[in-house]
Amino acid sequence: MQKLVSWIDQRLPIVDAYNKHLGKYYAPKNFNVWYFFGSLALLVLVNQLVTGIWLTMSYNPSAEGAFSSVEYIMRDVEWGWLLRYLHSTGASAFFVVVYLHMFRGLMYGSYQKPRELIWLFGMLIYLVLMAEAFMGYLLPWGQMSYWGAQVIVNLFGAIPVIGEDLSLWIRGDYLISGITLNRFFALHVVALPIVLLGLVVLHILALHEVGSNNPDGIDIKKNKDENGVPRDGIPFHPYYSVHDLVGVAVFLFVFCIVVFFFPEMGGLFLEKPNFEPANALKTPDHIAPVWYFTPFYAMLRAVTVDLFGLEAKFWGVVVMGGAIAILFVLPWLDRSPVRSIRYKGILSKIALAIFVVSFVVLGYLGIVPATEGRTILAQVLTTLYFLYFILMPFYTRMEKTKPVPERVTG
Ligand code: HEM
Repeated sequence: MQKLVSWIDQRLPIVDAYNKHLGKYYAPKNFNVWYFFGSLALLVLVNQLVTGIWLTMSYNPSAEGAFSSVEYIMRDVEWGWLLRYLHSTGASAFFVVVYLHMFRGLMYGSYQKPRELIWLFGMLIYLVLMAEAFMGYLLPWGQMSYWGAQVIVNLFGAIPVIGEDLSLWIRGDYLISGITLNRFFALHVVALPIVLLGLVVLHILALHEVGSNNPDGIDIKKNKDENGVPRDGIPFHPYYSVHDLVGVAVFLFVFCIVVFFFPEMGGLFLEKPNFEPANALKTPDHIAPVWYFTPFYAMLRAVTVDLFGLEAKFWGVVVMGGAIAILFVLPWLDRSPVRSIRYKGILSKIALAIFVVSFVVLGYLGIVPATEGRTILAQVLTTLYFLYFILMPFYTRMEKTKPVPERVTG
């Protein structure tokens, strides 16, 4: 065995790589539950890839065959129902895990210098994940697949001058059709997963270059012992590899309860109109995207005024795009001398709380039909969402921060 390892190692530096990323990767010893979600995101990614490959073996990517091939998977393919529920529940679980992972970043200032690139790769992952989920959702070719895609692709039509041509180019047809289904299938099963995997590798390489942040936001590399090992660090393997298994066990427990007992989650994970085949002549009463897109959908609908000769739909698209784009520049908006929310001042704490409440309530408003009152509420919350970012350079500099301890706390 030893000989084999050294034979390979002379040709491919596996020992070096093992040490750099596991055996001698020193992670802060004060990780808490919020640090489970990165490894859980990896677990869900593997689940999506494996179940996705098996689903592809029985799925038929055509307007004539898609819906019935999904029914065939559910009823006739051995364990097909399990593959499909693992994949559909996995999509929602991915967003649950990623949203909590991002929130951890906001809380502990993990995007701050020197971790800007980790954050930027994370944001690119988030964008690709949204595109991946959107395209995957068309594949069952149900009513909501069809009309959801119709609404979203039509949004591109609101862009002046090029809009109409752009949405025609995306669809490959004058309306969502089998041609659109074919290309979304190609992108969903081949192109985007490759991009996603590449970005995840870059995300982790960037993380391992600078090292993990921690709930205290302290730089553990500043305090090393005589061997150059951070005093507040422990090797990732075996300490965190085993520790992460606890997170995996708890996650799988909850995940399996959903997969086996509540795979539709009351219409949140699998929407009711999607049990009917797509019909271009019948619009569902109420079109809403899956829950993980609804905060942005609520922002889109919150814009109701035409401005500068451009229709409200266009400005809605601008607001929705801006809500995601502004997250990219977050590392340059936070001017606080400290990282973690534990040592930031009261203004940062209030701002983060308002931001989270706005995002969650917007998510609810995006699910339910719009009324006049709800639209006004969505307008207020959209404004608060943006103020969190726009005012950040000011409140992070103005407020009084707490002194950061020398060594990590428990
Ligand atoms: C497929 C999705 C993703 C995977 C598999 C993934 C994986 C990971 C892993 C394994 C870690 C180290 C463990 C941990 O700190 O939890 C990590 C850290 C991090 N991730 Fe992600 N990530 C994903 C998406 C994102 C997104 C969308 C963002 C933000 C936009 C993000 C931002 C970060 C940051 C800032 C860190 C460093 C955290 C710290 O050291 O405190 N990640 N990621």
